Amino acid sequence: MCRLNVRAAVLPAVSLLFVAGCSQEPAGKPQQASRPVVTAAGAVRSQDGEALFRQFCASCHPDGGNVSDPRRSLRGTVLRSNHITTADDIVRIMRNPISRMIRFDAATLPDRDAVAIAEYVLTTFK
Ligand code: HEC
Repeated sequence: MCRLNVRAAVLPAVSLLFVAGCSQEPAGKPQQASRPVVTAAGAVRSQDGEALFRQFCASCHPDGGNVSDPRRSLRGTVLRSNHITTADDIVRIMRNPISRMIRFDAATLPDRDAVAIAEYVLTTFK
């Protein structure tokens, strides 16, 4: 539980920079920090993709795997063997999933966020 709190602090930490206060903010609603967060040492930009991935994808693709179809994981070798090599390819699948994956339209995930997730996937799961 303690670990969850530390992780939940990662996102609000950014806004705290602007608030310039460091009192203990009430945790409020931690943005669905239900998954382990890999260390937050990365740049803010890559963190966006990571946070979005955790929010929208990790339930079915924990650690880049695939809970319901292991042959369709997000690992680089698997993606390449399925001819998925660019961020565009991944965004296309979000917009038009192959079969059982839920669909993410632009209202749910604007292009900018979809691309951030796709780049996170491509650079993270080898
Ligand atoms: C409800 C579960 C679920 C969620 C949530 C989900 N996926 Fe999937 N994903 C699947 C399944 C199942 C497949 C296998 C193909 C199919 O059935 O559509 C898949 C396949 C894929 C593939 C193709 C992998 C390959 O090797 O061919 C990509 C890329 C992908 N998902 C990306 C994402 C991204 C990015 C997100 C988050 C925006 C996401 N998925 C969210 C279930 C999910």
